[in-house]
Amino acid sequence: MNKSFLQIKSLKKKFIDSTDEIVVLDDINLDLTTNKLIALTGPSGSGKSTFIHLLGLLDIPDRGEYNLDTSKNLFNLSDKEKSDYRRRNISIVFQNFNLISDLTALENVMLPNLYTGESKSKSLELAKNLLTKAGLENRLNHTPKELSGGEQQRVAIARSLINKPKLILADEPTGSLDSKNAEVILDMFINFKDENSLILFATHNKSLVNKSDLELTISNGTVNFN
Ligand SMILES: Nc1ncnc2c1ncn2[C@@H]1O[C@H](COP(=O)(O)OP(=O)(O)OP(=O)(O)O)[C@@H](O)[C@H]1O
Ligand SMILES: [Mg+2]
Repeated sequence: MNKSFLQIKSLKKKFIDSTDEIVVLDDINLDLTTNKLIALTGPSGSGKSTFIHLLGLLDIPDRGEYNLDTSKNLFNLSDKEKSDYRRRNISIVFQNFNLISDLTALENVMLPNLYTGESKSKSLELAKNLLTKAGLENRLNHTPKELSGGEQQRVAIARSLINKPKLILADEPTGSLDSKNAEVILDMFINFKDENSLILFATHNKSLVNKSDLELTISNGTVNFN
C-alpha cells in the first residue's frame, strides 16, 4: 500500500538581503511515500540546497508544516528536539563528505551507530558490511587522507546508511565524482531504499535522474514532479 510518509504543507522560505527579498520556496505542498529514490533537480540557485536544509531541520521556514511518519509538525520542535529527531531518523550527506580525519573508514562509519548505544561488535559487523557493499573492503583501515575523493564519498554514504534512517538527504552527493563512482553511489541508494527509507538527492546529472523513481524539479519557487 502506498501510505503517505512525508508531507509538506504551505512551505515558504525567503531570504532577505540589503536590497531584495528572494522567495526561494513559495507555498510548497508535497506528499511522498517511502521506499523511493527521488532526484531533486532545478537550475543553480533554484533552491535545492535550501529545500534539503529545511527537510533536514537545519534551517527554519517562514511558514509551513512538515510531517515525517508522524502527525507532529517537525518545524515546531525545539532545537534539542530537532537534533534528537534528526539523529534517530534523518541522515544528511553533504558534498564535502565531512569525514573525521583521524578516524579510519571503518571507525567513521561505526561512529553514529555506537552513539545509539549499539555494541562494538555489532557496529563493526554493520560497518564492514556497508563498506564492502561500497566496494571498500580493502580500505577499511585507511584514514580519509589515504582515500581518493570517490572513496571518501562512498565512506560518507555508508556512514549515512548505518543507522537505517527513515529519510536520507544528499546534496549533490556525486558532484565531484566520475561517472563510474557516481553510479556506485546511486546503486547503494537503490539497494537501500527497500529498507523503508525515502532518499532525496539533489543532482545535475541526467543519467542519475533517469535511474531514480521520481524527479522533483524546483523552479521559480515551486516544486513539481517531472
Ligand atoms: N543565507 C542566505 N542568504 C541569502 N540568500 C540565500 C542564502 N542561502 C541561499 N540564498 C539564495 O537562495 C537561492 C537558492 O539557493 P540554493 O543554495 O538553495 O540553490 P541551489 O538550487 O542549491 O543551487 P546550486 O545548484 O548552485 O547548488 C539562491 O538565489 C541563493 O543566492
Ligand atoms: Mg545547492
